[in-house]
Parts: sequence; structure tokens; C-alpha cells
Amino acid sequence: MRPEPIEFRSTQVYPLPMPVARAPEMDIEAVYRLVETERAAVDELIKQRLASNVVLINQLGDYIVNSGGKRLRPVLLLLSAKAFGYGGTHHTTLAAVVEFIHTATLLHDDVVDASEMRRGRDTVNALWGNEAAVLVGDFLYSRAFQMMVEPGNMRILEILADATNTIAEGEVMQLLNCGEPDTTEDSYLTVIRCKTAKLFEASTRIGAVLCGRPRAEEEAVARYGMHLGTAFQLVDDVLDYGAADAQQIGKNIGDDLAEGKPTLPLIYVMRHGNPAQVAVVREAIQKGGREYIELVLNAIETTGALEYTARAARAEAEMALTAIAGLPPTPYKDALRTLAEFAVQRHY
Ligand code: IPE
Ligand code: IPE
Ligand code: MG
Ligand code: MG
Repeated sequence: MRPEPIEFRSTQVYPLPMPVARAPEMDIEAVYRLVETERAAVDELIKQRLASNVVLINQLGDYIVNSGGKRLRPVLLLLSAKAFGYGGTHHTTLAAVVEFIHTATLLHDDVVDASEMRRGRDTVNALWGNEAAVLVGDFLYSRAFQMMVEPGNMRILEILADATNTIAEGEVMQLLNCGEPDTTEDSYLTVIRCKTAKLFEASTRIGAVLCGRPRAEEEAVARYGMHLGTAFQLVDDVLDYGAADAQQIGKNIGDDLAEGKPTLPLIYVMRHGNPAQVAVVREAIQKGGREYIELVLNAIETTGALEYTARAARAEAEMALTAIAGLPPTPYKDALRTLAEFAVQRHY
């Protein structure tokens, strides 16, 4: 039976005032420590399965994978599986799979966004060119597909096939929105749920499926992943304007504006700015480039657009917490709760 699609809720206005931040139950390092053994196995698997007889693939694959990254999606999959008491070995394989899929989307995304910095280093496209980045992205995608059949679980194949398809749809919808100043908040939210949150959702859902949990539990943890991923991308879109510097996030700031990408901070200015601010943001979205960055930053600042976007992220994180409230109490559940907090409070 096909999984029930999670409805892309139509959300326009996030509530005021900002809910009070809750103290995390553990810190992010403790979250990672909790699945340290599994993470080491995943790292090893990633290293092994990157291998190819084609030298350029090894070279570029090593480059992007060894430049780090938070490895959040594999950690989510591992935590979800452990939260449901998983005792097998397929979770590490599937954790490597979701990281490969994620990395493939980044290789492609940096070409589409013409980005020059990723994970604190030059992007693959900047160093080796767009062609190589796209093709190595294809290699990673297809390697992920080779690996995801290994557990022999049709449901899991279906979840990952659907997720990758949805990510592609999200990126194409976003392409259509680029340069389009009339993009609505709803349309923006649909894009980020597809391009980013869907893989978070798939990662957490797989944990429950591996354990054969009842559908209600699977849906709960899937909802958690969807809301968490949405919060995560909202904050990413804040950081593109609001990070202290590029080193902090390992990516260049202002890439979204340069691409004419109508993310929530800009959509908010268009709704609440004065006529001059609206005009400048319209023009900046239509033309792309960095010419208007100072004026746009000023409009973002005076309208409180980043605060609004952060509040939206907070609301999503709250929904993520609510979704998993019924899970049995375990350190893994606490870790999932901590990650919801991290998604909102992160600076990198
Ligand atoms: C970057 O994801 C792309 C987005 C969805 C915002 P991450 O911030 O998880 O990237 P890495 O893997 O840690 O570099
Ligand atoms: C996330 O979008 C990319 C994918 C989920 C494929 P962004 O374009 O905002 O991500 P960054 O900022 O380049 O990491
Ligand atoms: Mg990008
Ligand atoms: Mg971004």
C-alpha cells in the first residue's frame, strides 16, 4: 500500500508573539555521541561506497564528502530507528543512502544556484566545472539507488523513490519562482517542503518502517521530519541574509538574492515594506545579482523580515515536537527533540 502523502499544509501567517525558547534537553554533541558507533559505521560505508574505477569520480566524491557537513539526515534516520528499538544493521546502509542523496542534490543545487562556496570550500562546480558536478551528482544518486535495494524492503524503496522525485519537483518549482517577485508564501513553503523537508521526512519515516511499527507511529515520526526539515530550510534562508560571515555557514552569504530567489525574508518585505522598499526588492528579485544588497538588507532589517522567518521556523519546530510527543521516552527521543531546537537556533 502506498504511504499516505503528508499534506502540504497551507500556511500563510505565522503567529505572534515569538514563543519562548525551550532549553534543549541535551546539547548537539551529546546527540551525535548517542549514535557514535553507528555514525562511524556510516562514515566507513560512505568511504567504501564512493569508490569507482573512474578516477575523477573518486577525486570529486572524496572532495565533497570529506569537506564535512553536518550529516544531519543520517543521524535522523539512525535516531528514529533507535527510538523504535531497532537492532539490525540496515539502518547504517540507509543512513549512508540519505547522505548520498543529499550530497547529490547539493552538487546539482550549486550548479543551478551558481554557488562558489560549500562546506567552507570552493564548490565542485567552481573547481571542476558544471559538467563534472552534474555527472558526479548523478553518480551519487545512482550509487544511492544501488545501495537502497540491499535491505530488500519494498516500502523503503518506495519512500526513497518518492522522496528523490519530490526533491526534483521542488528544485524545478523553485527554478520557476526565481526572478518572480509575486511568489506567495504558500508557494515558497511548498518548494521548501519538497526540496528540503521531504528528505528529512523520508529519513525519519524509514526508522519506523525498519522496525515494522504501526502506521500511526510511522506517520508521527514522518511528520516530525517534515516539520523539522521545513524549520531547517527557513533558518537556512535567514542565514543567507543574517549569518555573521561566510565562514560561519561555510557558504557565501547573499547567494539567494544573487539568484533572484524569492525566499520568505523577501516575501515578507514585499508584504510589509513601504513602497520604496517593495520597489527595490521587486527589482532585486527580477534582476538578480548583488547590486541592491545593501538596500535589500536595510529593508529586511527595518521590516523585521528575519524575525518573522525565524518565528516561522520556531512554529515548525514546535509542530515537530508535538508530532513525536507520543513516542516512548528514550534518550533517542530526547535527541530528536534537541535536533528540533538545533534546527531553529543553529548558526551554521
Ligand atoms: C544544506 O543542507 C542544504 C539545505 C537543505 C539548506 P545542510 O545544511 O544539511 O548541509 P551540510 O550537509 O551540513 O553541508
Ligand atoms: C537547498 O536549497 C538545496 C536542496 C535541498 C537541494 P538552498 O539552495 O537554499 O541550499 P544552499 O543554501 O545552497 O545550501
Ligand atoms: Mg543553493
Ligand atoms: Mg540557502
